[in-house]
Amino acid sequence: AVLILLGPPGAGKGTQARMLEEAFGLVQLSTGDLLRAAVAAGTDAGMAAKAVMAAGALVPDDVVLAILKDRMRDADTKRGVILDGFPRTAGQAEALDGLLACTDQQVNSVISMDVEDGPMIARVAGRYTCAGCGEGYHDMFKQPAKAGVCDKCGGADFKRRPDDNAETAGARLTAYHAQTAPLIAYYEGRGVLERVDAMADIAAVRDALQARVKRVMGD
Ligand code: AP5
Ligand code: ZN
Repeated sequence: AVLILLGPPGAGKGTQARMLEEAFGLVQLSTGDLLRAAVAAGTDAGMAAKAVMAAGALVPDDVVLAILKDRMRDADTKRGVILDGFPRTAGQAEALDGLLACTDQQVNSVISMDVEDGPMIARVAGRYTCAGCGEGYHDMFKQPAKAGVCDKCGGADFKRRPDDNAETAGARLTAYHAQTAPLIAYYEGRGVLERVDAMADIAAVRDALQARVKRVMGD
């Protein structure tokens, strides 16, 4: 199955994709994570992406497509994938259709995570992760049970993304409305779009998403 989580920065795509991955044995494919790994590794794709990401703009389609294609070939993606942060432009959506057609697949479900702009800036600007295991936290919404110690791995080292400040978050939101939001109508026209109220708390959004994914997976 091929599922897409569509939504602006801070909507909770990453948070929810990781939970769906565990619940359904799917693989989360985040182009943001893949790009950040490319930047850290200093690959050509990473060099091309670094400044664009720091400014909160979209990385060129060909760069994103190349790294996604590579990852989609891996065997662990056979049962199904949750695309998180991809596609983000009309060109990427068309390229995805072409890519899936090669293996007799198609987009099964697109879930639009509906939120309001204002609170999204706060969600993004307060976010940090455990440097050891990648567990996500938030200054206001999700603190570790014991201050300064990761709930999952016990690590004490945390990091913040360079684009997670109020100014860059605003630019990312602008890019979302201009280039990505039109995909909602595109997938609605194809009859695969569903909507989830992503202003609700994390557990409520999780339950709403899992009910929909269950239907798609047929289990
Ligand atoms: P990317 O990494 O995709 O970032 P994004 O889309 O801006 O999304 P975020 O990761 O910020 O938010 P999220 O929806 O995953 O929310 P999260 O679950 O973390 O992209 C980064 C950059 O890479 C882009 O700007 C672009 O330059 C480039 N890029 C990536 N893909 C690209 C593509 N396809 N094409 C071109 N360029 C591309 O949640 C946020 C916070 O809120 C967390 O702290 C979480 O704990 C909290 N939270 C989550 N849900 C809730 C809730 N229900 N209530 C309260 N708090 C919540
Ligand atoms: Zn950890």
